Amino acid sequence: MNIQTAINLDDLRRLARRRLPRIAFDFIDGGADDERCLRRNREAFERHCLLPRYLRDVSKRDQSVTLFGRSYASPIGISPTGLAGLFRPDADLMLAAAAREANVPFLLSSAANASLEDALPIAPDHVWFQMYCTSNEQINDDLVARARAAKPRVLVVSVDVPVNSNRERNRRNGFSRPFRMTPGVVLEALGHPGWVLRYLRTGGIPMMRNWKPYAPEGASAGEVADLYGTLTPAPMVNWDHIRRIRDAWPGALVVKGLMHPEDAGEAVRLGVDGLVVSNHGGRQLDAAPSPLDVLPQMRASVGEDLPIILDSGVRRGSDIVIARCLGATSAIFGRPTLFGVAAAGQAGAARALQLMRNEVDMVMAQIGCRNFSELDASYLWTPAPGQPQTTSSTYETAVRPRVRAVQG
Ligand code: FNR
Repeated sequence: MNIQTAINLDDLRRLARRRLPRIAFDFIDGGADDERCLRRNREAFERHCLLPRYLRDVSKRDQSVTLFGRSYASPIGISPTGLAGLFRPDADLMLAAAAREANVPFLLSSAANASLEDALPIAPDHVWFQMYCTSNEQINDDLVARARAAKPRVLVVSVDVPVNSNRERNRRNGFSRPFRMTPGVVLEALGHPGWVLRYLRTGGIPMMRNWKPYAPEGASAGEVADLYGTLTPAPMVNWDHIRRIRDAWPGALVVKGLMHPEDAGEAVRLGVDGLVVSNHGGRQLDAAPSPLDVLPQMRASVGEDLPIILDSGVRRGSDIVIARCLGATSAIFGRPTLFGVAAAGQAGAARALQLMRNEVDMVMAQIGCRNFSELDASYLWTPAPGQPQTTSSTYETAVRPRVRAVQG
């Protein structure tokens, strides 16, 4: 199998697993604690069905969405992921270029290896900037000032990392600062010579370029990563930070990681323009519900018009359609494009986006929907827990009389 013969996102994961040393693959793939949240994110989609409508002309289909005043080709996007350069040098720039080609948003993480100033010129209409607030207010203000200067279309503030979580795969592999590479980890990595060569050729751990300006002149990549580790996570961050950013940032402001309807309401009161409903892909609170499960309440809390982008566990076109039916405006995903870029660079990320776009299109046709934005709960069919696969009223009015007639 190669990137062009990969037929779904899981294939991209398999390709990346072959190419990456376990320490890097596990860093992408893993979740917190027992990884229940990771599994829950997938199970949530599996609980919903789509009820197809036929005999509608679906020869023309439109899956474009408008977000913050700009139209994108598909209701998908690339979630922000830090340290992507570890999986392939310049991965962030490749993700930006893939997003531009597919005409979908790419959320560049402040923990990425490319800086905002490097990535934005590659895809000025597609790169959004995601930041974490740090424990240093001057740096927080400076990050917003840099965004004001560079002008990404959207500023995203992630709020779901008050402290580091317990990612046990990383701990077992020694993936923490400072790196404690055991001989076993090094030996395993040597089984992936392409990755090792690229890693050595580019000088080892990639620089977190967004943070370089805050480190002493000439600081190494390791020293910059250590500085980042002292500034984040920042458990003191609170609503005042959002207020302050709102005052300083004139463009579209999105908060990523809220899961409680009251928090969503508070964000709207403070003038936030959109939400990414997310549990960080199951990487933070293992006991968190899936974003899909809280989505209807989040939608009810913010009203009909505020964009809600669903994130965490999205792997199929049908997931995106289901999310839309439950109140999302669009959806983003993080690991699949990382796996794609790790396996084959920009072409791999592009393949992930193309597969998802094709699946959304196919599902829309299957259920008789011409326009993605017209999807609503009427397309959903969700069996009540423990109930047979028909609703009791359907059974009583439509099925039982026929059974009786046949039985005489
Ligand atoms: C992330 N995520 C993340 N989120 C964020 O707001 N800022 C960040 O820097 C990162 N870094 C990061 C690194 C890696 C390797 C992963 C896998 C994830 C979370 C990310 O934006 C998104 O919420 C999840 O990836 C969504 O889940 P799926 O699509 O990967 O299941």
